[in-house]
Amino acid sequence: MARRIPRLAQAVLTIVGIYGAFRLVFDVLLGQPIPSSLLTMYMFFVVAGVYMVFTFTEESTRELVAPIRALVEDPRRKPIRNVVFALTPLLAAWFTYAGLQPRIEAPVELRSIHPAPPSSVKMFGKRFDLLKLEKEEPKKFRQLVAEGAKVYVENCHFCHGDKLDGRGPYAEGLNPVPMSFQDVGTIAQLQESFLFWRIATGGPGLPADAAPWISSMPVWETFLSEEEIWKVILFLYDYTGHRPRLWSENADHSKH
Ligand code: HEC
Repeated sequence: MARRIPRLAQAVLTIVGIYGAFRLVFDVLLGQPIPSSLLTMYMFFVVAGVYMVFTFTEESTRELVAPIRALVEDPRRKPIRNVVFALTPLLAAWFTYAGLQPRIEAPVELRSIHPAPPSSVKMFGKRFDLLKLEKEEPKKFRQLVAEGAKVYVENCHFCHGDKLDGRGPYAEGLNPVPMSFQDVGTIAQLQESFLFWRIATGGPGLPADAAPWISSMPVWETFLSEEEIWKVILFLYDYTGHRPRLWSENADHSKH
């Protein structure tokens, strides 16, 4: 006569079987892997359900835990018991250790670093037409550079660095890294209005094509006044010696 499969093994097989079925249906048949967080949630309910069915009566509960009881109480199983008791914490330790290992590969995140600016944006509760703003740019900001420097030192250098090279004390811990304004790829390629927009609305203000995105750049419109933002922009260009990009190729460069 064939021996009945122990209840504990039945329970484990049921759970493993359902897990396998999920993977088979989603990964193999549908070709769309099920998100691991969702799978974890499903499996939680599966385990809970199996547990309820297998402990429905006292008798079935006793049957379910019989092998575990035997392992712990039966003097003849001492050798196995010792092995299990030694291996369990080691396995747990190994899983924890493996889970803590940093992953070397960078996550795949395609993003546009300098997304096209919207033609108008809402900042400081007002709607700004960026194209117009650019032309109305006052030329006598120079004397305000010093005030801009103050704004920078008080607010920005922590991330963007005291030399504007993106190496502030916080920079190490940030991904994406703060921009180095010394780099010709940043503010030299941009218009003041773009900077104004980026500073005022920060990481959260980025459009969808700059996402998936976890920029730590703060929303400065909540901390700085409009004036202060213009001043700090002026300082950025003055300190780095870069000039803002002009809207038109024929624009008069001597004005900038
Ligand atoms: C908490 C760190 C942090 C602080 C403080 C911070 N930034 Fe940033 N900033 C970033 C990060 C990270 C990026 C790059 C990601 C992005 O573009 O959002 C960035 C990007 C920018 C950009 C966009 C540059 C480009 O090439 O698109 C500008 C402009 C900027 N910061 C200006 C400022 C100014 C001005 C201040 C101070 C008022 C400031 N930041 C303070 C983290 C910070």
